[in-house]
Amino acid sequence: MNNPKIQELGASAAAIQYHYDQSNDFYRLWLDSTNTYSAAIWQENDTLELAQLRKIDFQINGARAEGKKRVLDVGCGWGATLKRLVENYGVEKCVGLTLSEAQVEWIKSFNEPKIEVKLESWADHCPEESYDAIISIGAFEHFAKPNISPSQKLEIYRTFFQRAHQWLKPGGWMSLQTIVYENLTPAAGSKFIAEEIFPESDLPYLAEIVKATERIFEIVTLQNDRFDYVKTLKAWRARLKENRAEAVNLVGEEVVAKYEKYFGICMIGFHTGNMNLARITMRRIEPAHK
Ligand SMILES: C[S@@+](CC[C@H](N)C(=O)[O-])C[C@H]1O[C@@H](n2cnc3c(N)ncnc32)[C@H](O)[C@@H]1O
Repeated sequence: MNNPKIQELGASAAAIQYHYDQSNDFYRLWLDSTNTYSAAIWQENDTLELAQLRKIDFQINGARAEGKKRVLDVGCGWGATLKRLVENYGVEKCVGLTLSEAQVEWIKSFNEPKIEVKLESWADHCPEESYDAIISIGAFEHFAKPNISPSQKLEIYRTFFQRAHQWLKPGGWMSLQTIVYENLTPAAGSKFIAEEIFPESDLPYLAEIVKATERIFEIVTLQNDRFDYVKTLKAWRARLKENRAEAVNLVGEEVVAKYEKYFGICMIGFHTGNMNLARITMRRIEPAHK
């Protein structure tokens, strides 16, 4: 292991698998056809599929990944962005990292030689060759455990950006999407979400991200799109409702009820501004002074 301390301060593989390895068939019942599991970018009259593709395109363009040789996706989920990169953006080689076994299996079934998926934490990633661009959508939320000290939390985030800096070629771009605390303290957050939905995972504050990138990345664009998450959660909830009987057959009533409750709590969180959805593009810079 590359840095056991850093990985131990974030959600463990077991905690990630508790959530994401529920059942691929269950997620397919309420995610869109690309199995994208993060906030979409909505325009009027969009379907969930269209809004998810718009988000993926936004992230790919934010990372300036089109036509590039090597692109890394940290927290690649079921591989929608990897697929889009090779099929629509002419990328020669994509590497995806995930801690979910079910997601690895899913992506391997694409049989796409340009896509390499690894069951590996970013904290253990040691690429043999550098990357032209990095994308990370909806994974940063898992990088820090709750109840660690503020300095430990900052150390993890700083380490993540230092690694990304090492992995990227000079002048390379990273596009990052993550939920952040807005008008909320960790102690006031939902215990149900922290314990039963996303164990071992705490959110960042925007200020922590900004601090952690200091002098190694230049933040170029930042937008907060919390209402995009409200809409996405509504769409997931509606799909789950439509397919409820099948979902109960697959995972049982208790799990389905938990997901319904989780969607509801998060919708309120984004609607009220307790949480926000940050989309950030940044460019690798070289520290000018010692
Ligand atoms: C909410 S999903 C988002 C998936 C995908 N990016 C999308 O938008 O559909 C979070 C992803 O982060 C991954 N993840 C969490 N912690 C990670 C870590 N330490 N290293 C690499 N991936 C991680 C999970 O395995 C999962 O694939």
